[in-house]
Amino acid sequence: MSDHRHPLFARFWAFAGPRAMSKRDRAALLSGLSGDLVEVGAGDGLNFPFYPPDVASVTAVEPEPSLRARAAAGAPPQVRVVDGTAEHLPVADASADAVVACLVLCSVADQDAALAEVARVLKPGGVLRFYEHVVAENRAGRSAQQVLDRTGLWPTLAAGCHLTRDTRAAMVRNGFALADERRFSVGGLPHIAGTATRQL
Ligand SMILES: C[S@@+](CC[C@H](N)C(=O)[O-])C[C@H]1O[C@@H](n2cnc3c(N)ncnc32)[C@H](O)[C@@H]1O
Repeated sequence: MSDHRHPLFARFWAFAGPRAMSKRDRAALLSGLSGDLVEVGAGDGLNFPFYPPDVASVTAVEPEPSLRARAAAGAPPQVRVVDGTAEHLPVADASADAVVACLVLCSVADQDAALAEVARVLKPGGVLRFYEHVVAENRAGRSAQQVLDRTGLWPTLAAGCHLTRDTRAAMVRNGFALADERRFSVGGLPHIAGTATRQL
């Protein structure tokens, strides 16, 4: 099993996390969700205050120990913070009404394995809510991202994050249909957000 300890990144995220995504966007990401949820790569729990009242339970999976400890310390009663990875979710088959992936599919070691796990744990009709930065559509942006990824500079600085992930294509390849999708830029970085459902 790979080592998910990134203490420097964990300290950096305390500063950068609230700036990388606004409270309004976190609330919008989680809006309308209900039932039993799984959050993949929950970090230090920045999404926790924004889970709607109809959410009965959240299993928040986080492999990085310092982030996980901070998340557990601030978790509301309905949120259970657990060790695990997106590629091996410690969650039963067909048990989640929704899975939340927020700025994490850029960092997982294997997007296909992670999305197969999302599909496994979702109930029939369950949804994947996502908010992710992705590869640029224009050539200049993509080239700059490729340099940062291929030299290892960005993944090293950002604890395994990659700028060139085509997360939309990965979702489609793994049998998800995008029910709604928004494309936008945050600080010059292209992002996608929306809801994906598993095609049966
Ligand atoms: C940029 S942070 C985002 C944290 C949180 N989702 C948020 O929005 O504040 C990326 C997170 O993904 C986690 N991560 C990295 N690899 C992972 C994996 N294979 N499975 C699950 N989480 C992972 C990191 O530990 C970190 O918490």
